[in-house]
Amino acid sequence: MELTEAQIAEFSENGYLVIPNFLPTSGAASVDSLRKRITEIVEGFDLSEKGEIFTTKEQSRAAGDYFLSSGGKIRFFWEENARTAEGELTRVPELCINKIGHNLHDLDQDFELVSYDVRVAKICRDLGMELPKVVQSMYIFKQPFIGGEVGAHQDGAFLYTEPQSVLGFWWALDHCSQENGCLWAVPGSHRLGVHRRFRRRDPPDVGVEFVPSEPVSWDLSDAKPLECSAGTLVLLHNAVVHFSGGNSSPSTRHAYSIHVIDGKPGVVYPEDNWLQRDEPFKELKL
Ligand code: FE2
Repeated sequence: MELTEAQIAEFSENGYLVIPNFLPTSGAASVDSLRKRITEIVEGFDLSEKGEIFTTKEQSRAAGDYFLSSGGKIRFFWEENARTAEGELTRVPELCINKIGHNLHDLDQDFELVSYDVRVAKICRDLGMELPKVVQSMYIFKQPFIGGEVGAHQDGAFLYTEPQSVLGFWWALDHCSQENGCLWAVPGSHRLGVHRRFRRRDPPDVGVEFVPSEPVSWDLSDAKPLECSAGTLVLLHNAVVHFSGGNSSPSTRHAYSIHVIDGKPGVVYPEDNWLQRDEPFKELKL
């Protein structure tokens, strides 16, 4: 087992669990290895590729083909105010990127090492999964001064299995404070369940939609700021309500995240999940 009984009980009570010092600072599969590698990836981008703006504002959520076909690729998404009306970047590229996704875990060796760490596999099994598989990964930048807030949501609305089995792993790669936009979560909110999905439209329509379309609002008055140091792992239940503020500080707030599903027989990954890819999802092996 990787988690203690007390940690499993805490996760089941709150819907999230904070595990400090999960990643070492340096060496292989560390905070440094991911930060160095993402710098190389950003430097290697073809900036003539326009990418897409990333926003969590519902009316304008990025959902073009660039996003919808990113499940098997390494693609980049800009901060909302990273480009002028003419399409020019407003600052150096590495400070304009909102996130990179959604298949760093299979396509890049440094991200693969962290994502498929045997401790990740053990945690999935400690929390009841039989055949955990990684479905997506994201590197989130939350840039100094312009890093946008991410509104309250449940990850299970965006990725879904029947029955629901999605588990989120989120690693802090910077010290995370309220000033630079740490995660917040509402303890116990996972018990509310997920009652709304973000899904691909039925053909011949294209794009994505929320079903039902009416927004859900949650009581956030009990939300707790998950301030933590670099290297901390935060586990997120698919139904826990969480969000993060904007980054008003001069410091970065980088994070890496993956989502895992249980791929055991009887669990269905629907064809209308937004994330589809040609290659099968890979198992987290012990
Ligand atoms: Fe989330």
